[in-house]
Amino acid sequence: MTAAPVPSAVVELARSASRVAVLTGAGMSAESGIATFRDAQTGLWSSFDPADLASPDGWARDMDLVWGWYRWRAELVRRSEPNAGHRALTEWQNKIHLDIATQNVDDLHERAGSSVISHVHGSLFDPRCSECGVHSQPDAEPVDENVDRVVPPSCPECGGPMRPGAVWFGEPLPQDHWLAAVHAVENAELVLVVGTSGVVFPFAGLPAMARSTGARVVEINPVETEISDMADHRWRTTAAIGLPALVGSL
Ligand code: OAD
Repeated sequence: MTAAPVPSAVVELARSASRVAVLTGAGMSAESGIATFRDAQTGLWSSFDPADLASPDGWARDMDLVWGWYRWRAELVRRSEPNAGHRALTEWQNKIHLDIATQNVDDLHERAGSSVISHVHGSLFDPRCSECGVHSQPDAEPVDENVDRVVPPSCPECGGPMRPGAVWFGEPLPQDHWLAAVHAVENAELVLVVGTSGVVFPFAGLPAMARSTGARVVEINPVETEISDMADHRWRTTAAIGLPALVGSL
């Protein structure tokens, strides 16, 4: 297999940067077989309603539906593997200061060996009590794919229902994760924006913040996005093709 040609301006920026921040979205994990949210046909939000599954109101209406959906998604992630893009970032992180801040609730960066400074939208694997807030791992149980409603487990401390660890629409971001992402961007010389449509704020504001603090911004995405204008270079490739080619060229 021949490596994808890397635009020379992108190679130059990557070679000269000593601090890099990588901002990732659902497209980062698409080639691991995890559906994105907004791609036509295949995006999760074309088959599921975020008002039912990713909002405090949806949770209040039907906890069993919401818990079942997130448990199904967690199971899909468990059965998936990091792709060549995740692995390339690990290789790069072993060589220079590289911060990864992700919107993804999967653990594929970590399973590829990267350290992630920020999961701004939470994690599928960090449920907490919806009443007292205690984080706890429910006992593993077999997942029946034909069952879409599952009663949430009870909190070991107060008995309240456990809720998924993902951030929902209308909820504040976990402040420590958000501040870590901002810090990474403000201190980076190069910011790579990989696989996000750039429509969900405040994360979508990070590339503009990077520009305002003097960083150069490169977008890796097969298509134009809402934040393409913020990028110095727009590289129309995929995460699993572009990132290994880039890291291999350094
Ligand atoms: P989206 O589904 O909105 O966007 C995915 C982006 O990935 C699109 O721009 C695709 O073109 C791009 N893409 C697809 N395949 C790719 C590949 N192989 N390599 C690189 N890029 C690819 O996902 P996000 O931008 O991550 O929030 O969505 C942001 C947030 O909206 C999510 O974190 C989630 C969702 O609602 C919450 O759940 C709170």
